[in-house]
Amino acid sequence: MTAITLSLTNLFLLSSILTLTSAIPPAQLFSPLVPQKVLATFKALPNPVQYPQWTSTGGSWQFFSPNTWTSGFFPVTGYEVNTRKILCGATTANALGTADWLGLGRTASNGLVPLEISNGVGHDVGFLSFPFVEELILNPNNQTAKNAINAFAKLLAKRFNSVVGATRSWDSSDPTNFQVIIDNMMNLEVLFHSATLTGNSTLRKIAIAHADTTMKNHIRGDGSTWHVIEYNANTGAVTKKRTAQGFSDSSTWSRGQAWGIYGFANMFRLTGDTNYLLTARRLAKYFLDNIPAGGIIPWDFNAPLTPSPRPADSSAATIAVNGLLLLAKHETSAASSKSYSDAAIKILNDITTLAWNPSWQSLLSNGTVNKPANNQLTGTVYGDYYYIKAGNELIRQGLAKCL
Ligand SMILES: *[C@@H]1O[C@H](CO)[C@@H](O)[C@H](O)[C@H]1NC(C)=O
Ligand SMILES: *[C@@H]1O[C@H](CO)[C@@H](O)[C@H](O)[C@H]1NC(C)=O
Ligand SMILES: *[C@@H]1O[C@H](CO)[C@@H](O)[C@H](O)[C@H]1NC(C)=O
Repeated sequence: MTAITLSLTNLFLLSSILTLTSAIPPAQLFSPLVPQKVLATFKALPNPVQYPQWTSTGGSWQFFSPNTWTSGFFPVTGYEVNTRKILCGATTANALGTADWLGLGRTASNGLVPLEISNGVGHDVGFLSFPFVEELILNPNNQTAKNAINAFAKLLAKRFNSVVGATRSWDSSDPTNFQVIIDNMMNLEVLFHSATLTGNSTLRKIAIAHADTTMKNHIRGDGSTWHVIEYNANTGAVTKKRTAQGFSDSSTWSRGQAWGIYGFANMFRLTGDTNYLLTARRLAKYFLDNIPAGGIIPWDFNAPLTPSPRPADSSAATIAVNGLLLLAKHETSAASSKSYSDAAIKILNDITTLAWNPSWQSLLSNGTVNKPANNQLTGTVYGDYYYIKAGNELIRQGLAKCL
């Protein structure tokens, strides 16, 4: 009896030690290959500037005109590597001393400035604002960055329809067809920055209305999301709930779900409204509960299992990780905070095992840009950006150490 009691006690102690110990993030997050590849891509930017978006077979970046929804991601990657250097310092081993990352990020941002006058990216002006948001953190008086943030916010605000209570995501040939996608949650932050810079509180109200309308219509009872909701622009009525990049109208496109986790967690950070926190938690629960055994996040949680393997989406993984780390930061109980950071670290380990690809120009492979358009098995500029950002956030939260 004594022996059994002892061993049960030992088991109990062992399991409490295991639950208290944080998961260990993958070493690749802090590999010198991160700055080395980013620098090689900066050097390869065409002149006049074009920006990398995804890699073709074999892992070569495809460059796109600035007037593309993804154009802000590579410039802001320069800022993120600069942040890494501030957090970690430069050593021979980490290769962070090999470039002026801030200078590279700034120069690359200049190609976005003409888009303040006109662009075709719709609601994605929020993504274009990212490098300028980072610039203002370092240099709050930079007028170029302030102008960009205010211009992009104004363009997004112009897309607001007060009857629908949302900003229009995609333009449509029929003006009464008002389309909103879950991704649009990620574009709201620019409205808060501009409201602070200008004192115009309408911008903040627009962001909140959009998030509230999305919370009401985009989320299913089980915490999964529709990609697209169509509204009647004149009445505000929901006319259709459907997919664009997912498997079917009733399925859950994994990158959309990831944008939703991050977008609602970010709305909680920006407003303190607990409804957004509860929503981000619900979306996170669906995401985590639906990762298949083996840990590979499919491009759509309901995509058919055959032909096998069904394409993964490494960007859905890294975007969700950043949303989960934001939840970990804002949870008040240590146990729930740890459950989110452990989940984030597990996803990072699994995606690194699958998709860390030293021979490609991107850091990660196994992204799905757009499966219905047959664009999969790629690297993505946003997947890589969020991978680097996740490493920085882990360092800030004391969950990882610099190399
Ligand atoms: C201000 O920021 C822009 C990019 O947003 C950059 O190109 C420029 O160098 C910065 N100016 C100064 C004085 O730092
Ligand atoms: C505040 O922003 C909204 C949206 O861009 C705009 O319609 C309104 O004129 C602005 N108000 C002021 C006082 O500038
Ligand atoms: C991951 O990407 C590699 C390289 O493109 C590919 O060979 C492999 O089949 C992919 N794995 C999955 C599970 O999609």
